[in-house]
Amino acid sequence: MEKPIVVSGIRPTGYLHLGNYFGAVRNFIRMQNDYTCYFFIADIHSLTTHPTPTNLQAGVKQVLAEYLACGIDPEKSTIFIQSDVPEVTELYTLLNMNAYLGELERTTSFKDKARKNPDNVNAGLLTYPVLMAADIIIHKAQFVPVGKDQEQNLEMARKFAARFNRMYNNELFPIPRPFTFDGKDMIKVPGLDGSGKMGKSEGNAINLCEDPKSIRKKVMRAVTDLGPTEPNSKKAEPVENLFTLMKIVSAPETVAHFESLYNSCEIRYGDMKKQLAEDIISYTDPIRNKINDILADTDYLTKVARMGAERARESAAKTLSEVKSLIGIKSLF
Ligand code: TRP
Repeated sequence: MEKPIVVSGIRPTGYLHLGNYFGAVRNFIRMQNDYTCYFFIADIHSLTTHPTPTNLQAGVKQVLAEYLACGIDPEKSTIFIQSDVPEVTELYTLLNMNAYLGELERTTSFKDKARKNPDNVNAGLLTYPVLMAADIIIHKAQFVPVGKDQEQNLEMARKFAARFNRMYNNELFPIPRPFTFDGKDMIKVPGLDGSGKMGKSEGNAINLCEDPKSIRKKVMRAVTDLGPTEPNSKKAEPVENLFTLMKIVSAPETVAHFESLYNSCEIRYGDMKKQLAEDIISYTDPIRNKINDILADTDYLTKVARMGAERARESAAKTLSEVKSLIGIKSLF
């Protein structure tokens, strides 16, 4: 039986952090066996914020190396760079003819970005969901693993796919569905700022490629409280978060040791943080080394990107020619 098709895009901005590692990335890795996966680096999407050529190029290499280091297997999944597949931008142009100003302007992420950067409300930002829809439907994806912030964009992709099918009285595009993982299966990594989860924009994250010195500094600055005054008292959220992090990266005996110090009101958060920092360093060390090894191996990166582009183009070109023929774009020669 054919495996269901999954597409997901990653913007080449910033570094992967521990929260991503135990969240989205881990889910991608697991999906590789049971789904036909297309994972790509959305470099064209990232142009809406005008990165310098140097930064863009470095960002693309960095995410590619990070995802490979985390376990995306280029033999199992198709991993590619969006701009290596020009069929996507061609489909985007065609879809734009049936995407309406009103619906694009009403998108929350467009409104947010326009409000935050009133001097850069460009057309690419407005049509961001159209390009994203092209990314998804060009491979006839059935599932898209997305976080909360991308749900509305996926809703738009569903709308554009259905609209095309209706307009041309066809069922070319499956309507892509959000892929959500079982809650009990997820490890939620808390941030270091005392509340909520680890996130890039929250500024409370530890990156996978973070150097040991910087990890120590960040962990030592993590929010705690004044310490328990009664035995076996309930932990406040910032302290609970430190324990949660420790459970993820440290040995069970280490966690038990600090639990018991907490319960007997003898805990010194400084000691706990020192231990936690060292355990985070040991945990991330092999990943960090792997990222750096891959980054240094330009031949390997080139080979992976070329192989991915080839496979993605094959799938994309097939859909695009079906689309063009339905629309009535036919070559006269
Ligand atoms: N917009 C997504 C993000 O910001 C990235 C993205 C681009 C994407 N195209 C996609 C995600 C297609 C899923 C499917 O994270």
